[in-house]
Amino acid sequence: ENPEYVAQFNARIDAGGFIEPKDWMPDAYRRTLVRQISQHAHSEIVGMLPEGNWITRAPSLKRKAILLAKVQDEGGHGLYLYAAAETLGVSRDELYEALLSGKAKYSSIFNYPTLTWADIGVVGWLVDGAAIMNQIPLCKCSYGPYARAMIRVCKEESFHQRQGFDLLLTMMKGTAEQREMVQDAVNRWWWPSIMMFGPHDHDSVHTETARWGIKRISNDDLRQKFVDATVKQAEVLGVTLPDPALKWNAERGHHDFGAIDWDEFWNVVGGHGPCNVDRLAERRRAWEEGAWVREAALAHAEKQAARERQ
Ligand code: ACO
Repeated sequence: ENPEYVAQFNARIDAGGFIEPKDWMPDAYRRTLVRQISQHAHSEIVGMLPEGNWITRAPSLKRKAILLAKVQDEGGHGLYLYAAAETLGVSRDELYEALLSGKAKYSSIFNYPTLTWADIGVVGWLVDGAAIMNQIPLCKCSYGPYARAMIRVCKEESFHQRQGFDLLLTMMKGTAEQREMVQDAVNRWWWPSIMMFGPHDHDSVHTETARWGIKRISNDDLRQKFVDATVKQAEVLGVTLPDPALKWNAERGHHDFGAIDWDEFWNVVGGHGPCNVDRLAERRRAWEEGAWVREAALAHAEKQAARERQ
């Protein structure tokens, strides 16, 4: 790699500037962006499934309309992100093939089941809450198309988080049985949610992402910010977070919390979580059943192009 180009690239990053698709960039920067953006896109697309599961069973028209809009937003986020990855010279088909063959990673969180309606609220509150915490700094990441996509994604995620909290608040004002459902969902989702931020910093292998201004805040720092913000929200809701070690540490100015079960995390990331097999099977089925749409769109585009040539 030409040292002059490398120096210019580093200077732009150090000055907080954006790198755009046609700019020169080191191969490793391109590769790590394709890796992260495509994993992120896959997470959005797989993330439609646990909630899509409840659209037909939403308890009211209002809740159904909200849930439909949210799941559609997630499909949209996946599309912006695949488009951002395409600006780096990979094709969407290639990325999709990596997902469907089980080669590509996507967020561990989407391999857990949504067992009751309270899970839909908790996914909005905790899962989307964690996603926002991780994604706000990405609005300032060094790659222009990724940063710009994140601005709209974060606005929509913020609506998702609020609708989840609102759903839970409504259930908490309901019957004792509803309150128990909420607590049960919180008990099952809390630990997987804080695992979303990834391994501890000393086990996080992609240090290059920090150097290049892709990841602006480390996994552990984001996790801590999330825990600190969520404790107060749990109090407002009236639920208990299932961690006896969770307590305010005045010296650190943060909450301490218990040890994360990393065996569980790596097991899920490795394809052996409760729903990994179902999630991929569902994505494959959607791809196969959508073949006629892709063929029809292509035939239509060809006919249109032929007409224009006449
Ligand atoms: N689920 C699955 N895999 C994970 C997770 C997770 N929660 N956290 C880390 N990993 C993987 C990494 O992808 C990496 O694998 P790879 O080398 O095969 O790519 C490996 O574990 C080691 O982790 P790190 O070195 O810490 O990886 P990285 O620096 O990329 O940090 C993180 C991981 C924080 C997820 C980062 O990639 C990121 O910010 N991605 C963009 C946001 C995103 O994808 N969010 C998805 C969930 S939110 C949503 O979609 C609604």
